[in-house]
Amino acid sequence: MKATAQANTNIALIKYWGKRDESKILPMNSSLSLTLNKFYTTTTVEFCTCLSVDVFIINNQLANEFEMSKVTRFLDRIREMAGKDFHAVVNSTNHVPTAAGFASSASGYAALAAAATKAIGLNLDQKALSQLARLGSGSACRSIYGGFVEWQKGIEDDGTDSFAQPLKGGKDWDLSVLSVLLTSKPKEISSSEGMKRAVETSSLYAHWLDTVEKDLLVAKEAIKNRDFDMLGSVVEANALKMHATTFASQPPFSYWNSATVEVIRGVKNLRSSGIQAYFTIDAGPNVKVLCQPKDEQVVREALIRIPGVQEIYHCQPGPGISYLSNSGKREIANIQSFRNRKVAK
Ligand code: DP6
Repeated sequence: MKATAQANTNIALIKYWGKRDESKILPMNSSLSLTLNKFYTTTTVEFCTCLSVDVFIINNQLANEFEMSKVTRFLDRIREMAGKDFHAVVNSTNHVPTAAGFASSASGYAALAAAATKAIGLNLDQKALSQLARLGSGSACRSIYGGFVEWQKGIEDDGTDSFAQPLKGGKDWDLSVLSVLLTSKPKEISSSEGMKRAVETSSLYAHWLDTVEKDLLVAKEAIKNRDFDMLGSVVEANALKMHATTFASQPPFSYWNSATVEVIRGVKNLRSSGIQAYFTIDAGPNVKVLCQPKDEQVVREALIRIPGVQEIYHCQPGPGISYLSNSGKREIANIQSFRNRKVAK
């Protein structure tokens, strides 16, 4: 009753921002992402009748109570689906450059959904896995697939039509994404809290909803036609619009820091000098810059000089989930060694 799965992170090109149902994680709008090759999570799940509680180990430390209870609630759904009541040891490792701050709940819940369902003996197809991963964290439903992925918001109350799918015609476009690390400090306002505040209080949220589906159509058309400028322009405008809702919330907030603004300026300067580069920013200060492989070096050289930029990681489109053969080490046996360790922050 043990399985290991790997899932990569994704960046939102057209953002998921706002829920129409908080408990089922149903989004207000459809979104589009690109799965990245560099950053991923590997998770091993082992169910056993010998356990009376679930144990969650993340990056070699016992998870804190908040994360532990989220994972237990997630496993409860899987136990219910399988009609089994075994508890599990979940051992997750985020493969991101040390302290990079790019760890993501998207890769985490996609890997957990895949590993836990396989370990308990459920044979879910990718659509069902995407729906399940969504219940852990919305953006995780997109990390089931590689490359460009669309998450259709759906309209049903039960969420049966809200899942991600690979974008038709999106394969094999060789793009570069430079992940610009400004800080690895945890953010003060989580994406869940931020989007809730924006939905409930932002004077710009109605504008977001009025225009986001059109942005998605433009982005899909740009991908179909391999029109880099068209894609970059709508991606950038969509990110700015999402962040504008935070400035117009009550109380107002922002995910940016001063270096975020400097990187935005740097990208605009690159464009003025004829280099096609465009930025996007998720719920945090770090910036992702889209460019074409031929321009990667010059974009990197310009951005690495900006004060506050700590590191730049080169990413390309990455794969969807995969299953790994188990190491043979019993996860249950590992628990003992974690009993006395510090709990993860
Ligand atoms: C700004 O998927 O982290 O990155 O569903 O509440 O777990 P929850 O939120 P999460 O939100 C991601 C928000 C975003 C945009 C995106 O990824 O589409």
